[in-house]
Amino acid sequence: MSMSFPICEEMDDTLIENGRKLFAAECQFVKGVVAMDGLPNPDRIEICFAGRSNVGKSTLINALTNRKGLARSSNTPGRTQEINYFDLASSLYLVDLPGYGYANAPIDIVSKWQRLLKAYLSGRQNLRRAFVLVDARHGIKSVDNEIMSLLDKAAVTFQLILTKSDKIKEKDSEIIYEQVRQNLSKHVAAYPEILISSSERGDGIPVIRGVIADIN
Ligand code: GTP
Ligand code: MG
Repeated sequence: MSMSFPICEEMDDTLIENGRKLFAAECQFVKGVVAMDGLPNPDRIEICFAGRSNVGKSTLINALTNRKGLARSSNTPGRTQEINYFDLASSLYLVDLPGYGYANAPIDIVSKWQRLLKAYLSGRQNLRRAFVLVDARHGIKSVDNEIMSLLDKAAVTFQLILTKSDKIKEKDSEIIYEQVRQNLSKHVAAYPEILISSSERGDGIPVIRGVIADIN
């Protein structure tokens, strides 16, 4: 087993507490953006959640903020169709992105989202870190690699979150972790620690809050 890209499952109490405090603060929906010129002023840092459709981006935002209906989530892939901005503690934007790799919408709509997504990921000056969510059962797919290559080129640090950990069987997890590490080792912008989450069970949520609180 390679030792690079360890999974970060524990963290210093101080960081956990900072994360808890940050996410206990007010969090509000700001706006849904459909074109680059609709982005809010880059007057604070922001982090975003990217990933294939249905991977659990919106649900993770709800779990982190402990507000069930804040970001609209759904069983139907392609739920999030705009770049949704949330203000946390008046100090940070959390950005919920439309999923990629979703083929079941009209082609012109899909390509419009994809263009916007790519423009956003490669051209947002105050974007401090992109969290790239990958289903823990499926590992990294070629569309994920495309997005990660785009982030490499744009020099946007990205950190992988393996989602839906409640659905993975212990015996399958090492194979997936190894596949993920192999892929990440090819990306210069990959943050050297992997996160793992279950929005269903709450696993990993305090650690992800702590990671976000530590970004500045
Ligand atoms: P798009 O907006 O379409 O790109 O999807 P998304 O990535 O925002 O996914 P969303 O949060 O809407 O979740 C998709 C489905 O996965 C929903 O049915 C969620 O309830 C489910 N889901 C999300 N996170 C978890 C998790 O940690 N565990 C389990 N078991 N299900 C989850
Ligand atoms: Mg969504």
